[in-house]
Amino acid sequence: MIEWVPATGERAAELFAACPDYFQRLHGHGYSQEDVRDFLEGKPPEVAEKHTWMARLEGQIIGAVDFLRDYPEPGTVYVGLLMVREDRQREGLGARLFEQLEILSQGERFRLAVLEHNAPALAFWQRVGFVPTGELKPYRQHQVVLLQKS
Ligand SMILES: CC(C)(COP(=O)(O)OP(=O)(O)OC[C@H]1O[C@@H](n2cnc3c(N)ncnc32)[C@H](O)[C@@H]1OP(=O)(O)O)[C@@H](O)C(=O)NCCC(=O)NCCS
Repeated sequence: MIEWVPATGERAAELFAACPDYFQRLHGHGYSQEDVRDFLEGKPPEVAEKHTWMARLEGQIIGAVDFLRDYPEPGTVYVGLLMVREDRQREGLGARLFEQLEILSQGERFRLAVLEHNAPALAFWQRVGFVPTGELKPYRQHQVVLLQKS
């Protein structure tokens, strides 16, 4: 059974080290402490609280999620990162984590941004019910595609 535990720097570092392809695509190199800090603390200044959770299965950290409630408007849950360690992907774990996030966050609708070249994530989010809003936004040196689920 998947167990949710609070996110810590140590747990995030363990998971990020197990996801080299994602950070390679994002930065052109492996994860850094800035990624860990950003996952734990990065949020828009007007939002009071960011929710960060790690998923544990059979004693191993297998994934993470972070989200903001009521952002950018009341009732919307903004999903930051949903991640599954690379050696456990395509087993249905990401879909299970999102299913649990939907319950945990009590959102009426969900919104998120994905790097436009992150084809696996775009396929994943559309598979679990998201649709592109048609918006594109700059993020670091990339563009992100906005998606939502009502
Ligand atoms: C996106 C991510 C969370 C998906 O996790 P996962 O555990 O592999 O997803 P699932 O096994 O639940 O996949 C569910 C469905 O999504 C789609 N999907 C998932 N990964 C895919 C891929 N690499 N290519 C194409 N479709 C994919 C498939 O339809 C899949 O169903 P199927 O395996 O029966 O074909 C994972 O790839 C990940 O952690 N990526 C790195 C972080 C990231 O990019 N997060 C998203 C941005 S927030």
